[in-house]
Amino acid sequence: MKTELLEAQLLAKIDLDRLPKHIAIIMDGNGRWAKRRRLPRIAGHRAGIRAVRHAVEACARLGVPFLTLYAFSAENWKRPQTEIKLLMALLREYLKKEIGELNRQNIRLGVIGRVADLPKAVQADLDTAIDKTRQNTGMRLTLALNYGARTELVDAVNALLAYAGSNGSAQVDEDAIARHLYTHDVPDPDLLIRTSGEMRLSNFLLWQVAYSEIWVTETLWPDFQQENLFQAIIDFQRRERRYGGLGLA
Ligand code: FPP
Repeated sequence: MKTELLEAQLLAKIDLDRLPKHIAIIMDGNGRWAKRRRLPRIAGHRAGIRAVRHAVEACARLGVPFLTLYAFSAENWKRPQTEIKLLMALLREYLKKEIGELNRQNIRLGVIGRVADLPKAVQADLDTAIDKTRQNTGMRLTLALNYGARTELVDAVNALLAYAGSNGSAQVDEDAIARHLYTHDVPDPDLLIRTSGEMRLSNFLLWQVAYSEIWVTETLWPDFQQENLFQAIIDFQRRERRYGGLGLA
């Protein structure tokens, strides 16, 4: 079936009044995509950027308020230097090229992770892109860069300890922890998507996905199209979310 026809048919099945407020994506499979084509891994990452564009545009057009993409994990530093350098170069290229498009789509950019440990040039490009999209009122696109959920919790606990020390209070509740996470201004994801079939959370948003619906597809990230996103949302809308209750309310 032609892609546009399939997309239109899937789109018709989506209830726009019950969209997930926040979609988070673990973009996996760039390396395998390249290997299957006997291409270098970086070709997979480059193709992955095209998929990023599709996903961002599709979410923004649908009216999803928050999209978070796992673009570089704290563990990714273990990869070969050449791959890390090329990933950083691709990220810089994306940030520079995409500002116009993000503004056209009214998208505001944000970042989570230990940004201060990223190369200075990347930090500068991030600052510029965040600054130049700050006024936008549509979707909030968050890139997780040098992100690890355990590190995030460590940073939150240290911030809480510092706060408790200066405030003379040692009481901590769930809200206090959530307020000190990198995601303090973003709601928890309703839907977590992972590509390329792996059934793992890979240290991504561990606190925040406590009640998220998880949707895993065998599709490799560079092959991820609008139709895959629509299917994920349709399946999400078919599921009944109970939050630990009986789902009768
Ligand atoms: C996983 O594929 C993907 C990554 C480690 C990085 C994701 C990066 C991009 C999609 C490009 C840059 C992103 C932005 C937002 C500009 P993998 O290499 O782990 O694949 P494999 O598991 O098949 O080896």
